[in-house]
Order: sequence, then C-alpha cells, then structure tokens
Amino acid sequence: MQNNYYKSDINILGIETSCDDTCAAVVQNGSKILSNVVASQNYIHEKYGGVVPELASRKHIEVITIIIKEALEQSGLGLKDISAVSVTNRPGLVGSLLVGVGAAKSISYGAKIPLVAVNHLKAHLYSNILINPEQEGGFIGLIVSGGHSSLYVIGCDWSISEIGHTVDDAAGEAFDKIARFLNLGYPGGPVIDKLAREGNPSIIELPRPMLDSGDFNFSFSGLKTALIYRTRRNPEIMSKENIPHLVASFQESVVDVLVEKTIRACLEFKFNEILVSGGVAANSRLREKFEIKAKENNIEVHIPPIPLCMDNAAMVACLGYHEFMRGNFSNLDVDVYSRSDI
Ligand code: KG4
Ligand code: ZN
Repeated sequence: MQNNYYKSDINILGIETSCDDTCAAVVQNGSKILSNVVASQNYIHEKYGGVVPELASRKHIEVITIIIKEALEQSGLGLKDISAVSVTNRPGLVGSLLVGVGAAKSISYGAKIPLVAVNHLKAHLYSNILINPEQEGGFIGLIVSGGHSSLYVIGCDWSISEIGHTVDDAAGEAFDKIARFLNLGYPGGPVIDKLAREGNPSIIELPRPMLDSGDFNFSFSGLKTALIYRTRRNPEIMSKENIPHLVASFQESVVDVLVEKTIRACLEFKFNEILVSGGVAANSRLREKFEIKAKENNIEVHIPPIPLCMDNAAMVACLGYHEFMRGNFSNLDVDVYSRSDI
C-alpha cells in the first residue's frame, strides 16, 4: 500500500487482545486508519457457547506476531515510522491482556518508541472520535458489549465519569446466554439480530427491567429468567415458527431500556449528543430505535460503523494518539488488570 508519510505525522500502532479477538492497527494522526486487522476466535469458542479464557490466551500467543506484521504491512509503514505503540491493558481477561501487553512492551523496547497502555472501555468511546475527530464534548456515552453496559457523562475536556452500569449481566452477555439457551449459536447478538427481523416483538410480552428504577443502572439477568419461565409455562413458543417472535421480543426489551435510559440521561444532564459503542451497538434495532428517539428529542446520536463498534485496535490506536499528545506514556513494567473503571 502506497502511503504519503511525512515525518511530522504521528503513526500509532494499536494492539488489542482483551478478550477473544487478536487485533492490530495503524492509525495516522488519530483518525486516518491505515490498517485495522482482526483475527476472530469465534470458531474456537462457539462450541462452548462463550469465551474460554485459557483457549483465548493460547490462540492470541499463536497469532499475535502474524497480526501485528499484517497490520504494519497493510499500512505501508515500517516499525521505523511508528511513533508509539498503544495497547489495551485493562479491563479484560488477564491471560489475554498479557499477550498484547507483552508484545507491545517488546516492540516499545526493541524499536525505542513510547508505550501507551490504555483502557478498553475508554477506547470504545474514542471510536467515535476516530471517525469524527472534530467532535467536541460534552456527551452522554453508552458502552454496550459482552462485558459491559454502562452510561457515562463525557465533559468538554473528555473527562469521563460513570453515571450507571449493569447490576448483573451485560447486554451482550444476555444476547449470548439467550442464544445458548435456544441453541442458536455463538456469539448470540448477530444471530438474534438477524432472526428477530422475521419476528414480531409484540406477540410475546417481556418485561422492561429497571426502566423506571429512578437511576441510570441496567439489569438484564431477570429478563433472561423471565424468558426462560415463559418458555416453561408455554413450551409451544419454542417452536420453529415462534422463535423469531421470542427473540424479537427479547431484543426489543433490551433495546427499549438501553435507548430510553440513555435519552433520559442526555436530557437530565442537558447534553444534546450521545456516543454509543461496543459490540451490541452493531444491533440493527438498537441503531434504528436510537435514530427515531433521538430525532423526537432533538438529540444527535453517533454510532460508529459496525467493525469499529466491535473490538478492534484502531480505537486503541486512536486513544493512544490522544494520550501520546498529552504526554501520557507508560513504563515497561505496566501491569494488566481484569477490572477497571474508566
Ligand atoms: O465489544 P465486543 O466486540 O467485545 C466485548 O468487549 O465484549 O462485544 C461482543 C458482544 C457479544 O456479546 C455479541 O453477542 C454482541 O457484542 N453483539 C451483538 C451484535 N453483534 C455483536 N449484540 C446484539 N446485536 C448484534 N448485532
Ligand atoms: Zn469491547
């Protein structure tokens, strides 16, 4: 790939291995994606219905070097052109995080370039800045993924504070568990999204958990239990023709709560823009409902293109660029953390 590279350009190599995707990317000046490579491990974990941490870290070890080389090759740059290496070091599966952080430390030491360790959740929010660098705060941010469902207030200076989170399962986790219960495959989100298009969400009624809890928290595990009880009481809704209605109803309930509470937060905190990211932000009904509800309330909703909603290293490189410009570098003894607030 031919790349017009000027010495003043800041090229960040991003590395992301917090869960089950091995990702590397090169981003120029915080917003120009020169490469964005993702090696999915879905084919390994699907038979277990969820990510098996030990298998995930072993696969990361196998492919990390190949993926980083591929990202550099596709970018048209060499290591000598890279200004810093940015890597996710929190939150995530410790064994998986260690592989990415180990690789980033080696590159930083060997190529004598700064290391920037970043927060995965913050990187998800920055995926919006990656595609629209001119965007200025403040915003309400919603991260909905397999591990998180949280709401944030984002100040004009990009200071981020959490105002709500799930008290039990994350939204993506609920999609995955329901898909597993119904034998639909893994990951559950994309399968349910597709199947729900053939269903009518009004035929089988399900609750809207914590919609009126008076705070900005979420809960999705009770919804899963409600669905399971419904199928026990009425086994006929597990029939082939009823499954699309059942998953459409489940999806509608999750989407209603996420959209409604995010819009309420935006109105209460007097913002007029919302940033959404994380794997569940790929959901077609969520995207559609956000657009409708935002219009009704004169709010602008920004959701990145689907590949940038899912785990990827371009968002890590984008956040790495901003931390680099702020002079926030990490030492080579930086650790990994399974849990971390933003
Ligand atoms: O952000 P992500 O790639 O990884 C985590 O950090 O968790 O999100 C993965 C999650 C999975 O639970 C998956 O089922 C869900 O995102 N997901 C979806 C869709 N695509 C992926 N959920 C609903 N609808 C989708 N289209
Ligand atoms: Zn994620």
